[in-house]
Amino acid sequence: MTESLLDRVPVIPVVVVENIDHAVPIARALVKGGLPVIELTLRTPVALDAIERIAAEVPDILVGAGTIVTPGQAKQAFDAGAQFLVSPGSTPNLTAAMRDTGLPHLPGAATVSEVLALLEAGYSELKFFPAEASGGANFLKSIHSPVPAARFCPTGGISTANASTYLSLPNVGCVGGSWITPAAVLADENWDAVSALASAASELKTTA
Ligand code: 3PG
Repeated sequence: MTESLLDRVPVIPVVVVENIDHAVPIARALVKGGLPVIELTLRTPVALDAIERIAAEVPDILVGAGTIVTPGQAKQAFDAGAQFLVSPGSTPNLTAAMRDTGLPHLPGAATVSEVLALLEAGYSELKFFPAEASGGANFLKSIHSPVPAARFCPTGGISTANASTYLSLPNVGCVGGSWITPAAVLADENWDAVSALASAASELKTTA
């Protein structure tokens, strides 16, 4: 993959799959809506199987694993067919395990020191999490001048109400969020609603 993870779509859908039979229809609905990227969180027992099914059955989508919180999960996600990895934080063991997979990945940071440590480790693209709880767009705006090398995918508390504010910042490539696949919409198997939410998100403009 040559393209940066931050420059593919304005919004990376962060998805929690409870029912394995929903995995492929969700992925297809996102592609149909114009968001051919999915971050499938490793928060449910079916998550790895969901990644495997999407990787096998929906070739048009870039499927990644999110909520990588232990080194072992990086390898499990790779083995399931994940094409990228996202972690809400970063420890030396976690970043080493993600690097070992050879997959593109976004380690998480929420403080200036964490950002600096990741820059030292060779990263320039990071997840900013939990975005709203850690200072939101104001935090990113404030660190752009002293730390211009870092670019972010902020996630956590982002919705249609504030996504554009983040996307207008020079150090934000895209945002992540679960608002495109709300639990109630997935429970209703309302794939048209997922496509409509994806379509609206795909039209958000980025400046970075
Ligand atoms: C994540 O893992 O990135 C977040 O849980 C997504 O946050 P949100 O549900 O507030 O969009």
